[in-house]
Amino acid sequence: MRILITGANRGLGLALSQVGAEKGHHILAGVRDFQKSTENLTQSEIYKSISLLPLDVTDEESVSSAANTVNENYGTIDAIINNAGVLLERDKQIEDLDLDQVKATFDVNFFGPIRVVKHFLPLLMMGDRSSIINISSEAGSMSNAYGGDYAYASSKTALNMFTQQLNQYVKSKNINVYSIHPGWIKTDMGGDRAPGNPVVTAKGIFDIIEGKGEIESGNVFITYEGQSMPL
Ligand SMILES: NC(=O)c1ccc[n+]([C@@H]2O[C@H](COP(=O)([O-])OP(=O)(O)OC[C@H]3O[C@@H](n4cnc5c(N)ncnc54)[C@H](OP(=O)(O)O)[C@@H]3O)[C@@H](O)[C@H]2O)c1
Repeated sequence: MRILITGANRGLGLALSQVGAEKGHHILAGVRDFQKSTENLTQSEIYKSISLLPLDVTDEESVSSAANTVNENYGTIDAIINNAGVLLERDKQIEDLDLDQVKATFDVNFFGPIRVVKHFLPLLMMGDRSSIINISSEAGSMSNAYGGDYAYASSKTALNMFTQQLNQYVKSKNINVYSIHPGWIKTDMGGDRAPGNPVVTAKGIFDIIEGKGEIESGNVFITYEGQSMPL
């Protein structure tokens, strides 16, 4: 399969790119800053099926130009993984919240996936083996609100609604659409205390994309192991 992954240069995006390449997929690795840490994506022969793609999800021109490049070079893709994300204003209470940071959070976590789907959906193969995966978070679960992370949590709730709406729109085209909670994993965002390993999460997400994982039916918000998450 040919799979687009945003935020592919570190964290979960890097693990997804490496696991995907090891499984023999062609990875289109969206990276916003080529000066930064792309060597992890190209350092080994195993990763020769990874193609780097300049892609800043906050810049619609960048997204549109990435889609044109993919269209000209490959024509179609089989899956989109909207992985790029930011966690800003952590631990800030509402009284101290910087609204520009809230907007910046939505720009990446919510508007980013919308921009990507807007420009890449026409390239997505139709059929039950194609998917759109939006990497969400349990923080976006309305029923588990915990009185914090206003920007991040709200952006993921909005992302879940986008997933629901999109799922209804592409249902007739047999495209699988999910919001996936990746678990609390060791990355720059998750921190060193996180119990989860991004490679394990990446393998679970590929099982879902490849149609191997069991998915509890009826919900678009699931864990990387296919279990239903409360919206
Ligand atoms: N880690 C966890 O425990 C956890 C838990 C729940 C959900 N998640 C979700 O999992 C996803 C991946 O998180 P992570 O832990 O891997 O985070 P991370 O280690 O902080 O990596 C974030 C990635 O997103 C990229 N990114 C940020 N802004 C971007 C933009 N404007 N355009 C393109 N790429 C951009 C970063 O690129 P640069 O290197 O250029 O900054 C980086 O590659 C996120 O959606 C996050 O919300 C993570």
